[in-house]
Amino acid sequence: MISFDKKSSSFRLETPSSSYVISLVNGYVIHSYYGSKLGDDDATYLSRPKEFGFSDSPVFREKHSFLDYIPQEYPTDGMGDFRESALSVTDSQGRNGIELKYKSHNIFDGAAAISGLPAVFDSCDCTDGNNVPKAKRLEILTEDKILGVEVALIYTVFENLDAIVRSVRITNNKKNPVFVKKALSAAFDIDDDHFDVITLHGSWARERHIERHLVHMGKQGVVSMRGETSHQEHPFIALLDHNADFNKGRVWGVNFIYSGNFVADVQKNQFESVRLVMGINPENFCWKLEEGESFNTPQAVLVYSENGLNGMSRTFHDLYRDHLIRSPYKKSPRPILINNWEATYFNFDTQKLLDIAREAAKDGIEMLVMDDGWFGKRNSDDCSLGDWIVNEEKLKGGLKTLVDEVNRLGLKFGIWFEPEMISPDSDLYRAHPDWAIQISGREPGMSRQQYVLDITRKEVRDYAYEAVAKILRSANIEYVKWDMNRQLSDIGSTALGSDKIGEFYHRYVLALYEMQERLITEFPKLLLENCSGGGARFDPGMFFYSPQIWCSDDTDAIERLAIQEGTALIYPLSTMGTHVSVCPNHAVGRVTPFKTRGYVALSGTFGYELDITKLPPEDRTLIPHQVELYKKYSSLVRDGDYQRILSWSDGGDADCWASVSKDKSKALVTFVQVLNHPNYKTRFVKIQDLKENATYKISFPDENQNDFPPQTLTGRTLASAGFALRRDWGDFQAKLICIEEI
Ligand code: GLA
Repeated sequence: MISFDKKSSSFRLETPSSSYVISLVNGYVIHSYYGSKLGDDDATYLSRPKEFGFSDSPVFREKHSFLDYIPQEYPTDGMGDFRESALSVTDSQGRNGIELKYKSHNIFDGAAAISGLPAVFDSCDCTDGNNVPKAKRLEILTEDKILGVEVALIYTVFENLDAIVRSVRITNNKKNPVFVKKALSAAFDIDDDHFDVITLHGSWARERHIERHLVHMGKQGVVSMRGETSHQEHPFIALLDHNADFNKGRVWGVNFIYSGNFVADVQKNQFESVRLVMGINPENFCWKLEEGESFNTPQAVLVYSENGLNGMSRTFHDLYRDHLIRSPYKKSPRPILINNWEATYFNFDTQKLLDIAREAAKDGIEMLVMDDGWFGKRNSDDCSLGDWIVNEEKLKGGLKTLVDEVNRLGLKFGIWFEPEMISPDSDLYRAHPDWAIQISGREPGMSRQQYVLDITRKEVRDYAYEAVAKILRSANIEYVKWDMNRQLSDIGSTALGSDKIGEFYHRYVLALYEMQERLITEFPKLLLENCSGGGARFDPGMFFYSPQIWCSDDTDAIERLAIQEGTALIYPLSTMGTHVSVCPNHAVGRVTPFKTRGYVALSGTFGYELDITKLPPEDRTLIPHQVELYKKYSSLVRDGDYQRILSWSDGGDADCWASVSKDKSKALVTFVQVLNHPNYKTRFVKIQDLKENATYKISFPDENQNDFPPQTLTGRTLASAGFALRRDWGDFQAKLICIEEI
């Protein structure tokens, strides 16, 4: 998987279908190649030795034209590479500019943990005691002797996945402090080949819409400065062949295992090569390193696919399911929940919740989640965050009485928190106004009428953690929805002096990780679902703590198509929080069939977010069947290979995707006819990656057998011609199609 060839002075990182070559030339660490598998050739020529030809020492007379052309593995600033850099450091004498030269290297067995940060791990299943390393790790140590700074370039490669996970460790070996002003996690250059770039964009209630365009000259990319991942932009960027589609073409996808400010850019430069970078956003970032101290960057995941976007998605899904999510729930069915947010908003009491639970139990729903409004005097979003004391006017007899009663009805119980927040109208704020993030002398800005707690301060995060834990210790609570409903501004902290305030954003993320680590350590069986005003914290960093994340506050089945397509481009369906809600939909007012809402939600964690006691009978009667469908297909959706077939958001009239079992014996296809046109006839739907010579039965479990008779086709025909789908129905209608080997 990882080797070093002395003759060509190059490292090879091999995955099942990609090669990644790093060369050492005149002490520089050069990025020679990343793409489809190479033959067993001498790779020296890939390090562009001719460019070294104008002088024995590239630093002699034309250093700029050398550095500004050569693709370094970890480009630094200030020395003559004028493209986007990955590292910028200043020492206490004000010396800017850093130049890294190779020092040594080591190849290790296994992935390595990074203290305080989420990181990929080896074992496929952390619960089965199988700790045989499936990964190898290369650490290349480089240094700048003038600054006394050492930089370790770290690469983790898995035996059976086309993924390379990169991170960097920066150490100050000199007496005086140095200031790291930029420390990205990965960079690589590829000669341009008429590439497209894909990024994900959105807003509240319309997260992660896919955007694709031709790579143009100069810089293009995405950032967050919001202190969290954000609704608006996503820490993901992909380069792909202009003609690449779901199943063909080369794709290089990069994703960031982090939950704070990020930058992801591609830059096409004068020599028609493209540099891709990913890491912590350097804006307002500056990390002080005293002698002997190190800074670890979060990990960036590089995935290469020569089978289009579906190939890329499959690798990300497998990596995250097997090597990042730790929860005991990751390979087991999630309880079907009913959440009271869209059912009641703040207007509920014990009686109302028990009415919902009682009716839900009759239909096979397995867990009641009590959302916002159960604490302090919170009857709207203008108060009480921080006062995590049960409101006994609403919950008569207290929380335990409610939980016990819900359990007696046969349901588990879950609860909502927003632990990082503080309302100005709260006892907590009245006692500790300085606990809110604020710039001394300025009035902090509110958002949703709330401030953010300065959890970089230990006493503040201890309080916030204890407040949550105390409630969890008080009753049989088996699920927590950890919300975060505003973004960070007015950055100031009494805990950090002016030389360290540039550390605030990253320290905030580390504090959040520490709190969630504590939570899952104290409550190892807890099912934790992260959330942020819908899906603003949907990122792989959070997978390390929670196996599922609320995807969006938009529960409209049609809006969800684009949101879930963008999310599933990188993340497994098992991680996507998906609920059926009522119509007209609360976010967009659209009316869609209950059946369609159910099918769209089935491709995620599945649950309900409605007042079941008021549901029209024609919808209510469908719930037990939907529950049955979920039970039948949840393992296929959770553990199978995702396959995108049609995209409505990309200008189509229908949306279609499938989950194919790993052994290729079955698949579940969801087809949503978004726009109906007159006089439409049969359409053929192709499924890839089944067994070519096996025969499959294609059936429509919820349709009348006379109108939709089963078909029998081979895997080869399903991939080339597809199965026939009659289309004689209206807008927003959906079909579920079951494919089984016979
Ligand atoms: C956020 C969440 C919602 C709900 C509300 C409660 O918007 O995304 O699901 O929990 O907060 O205030």
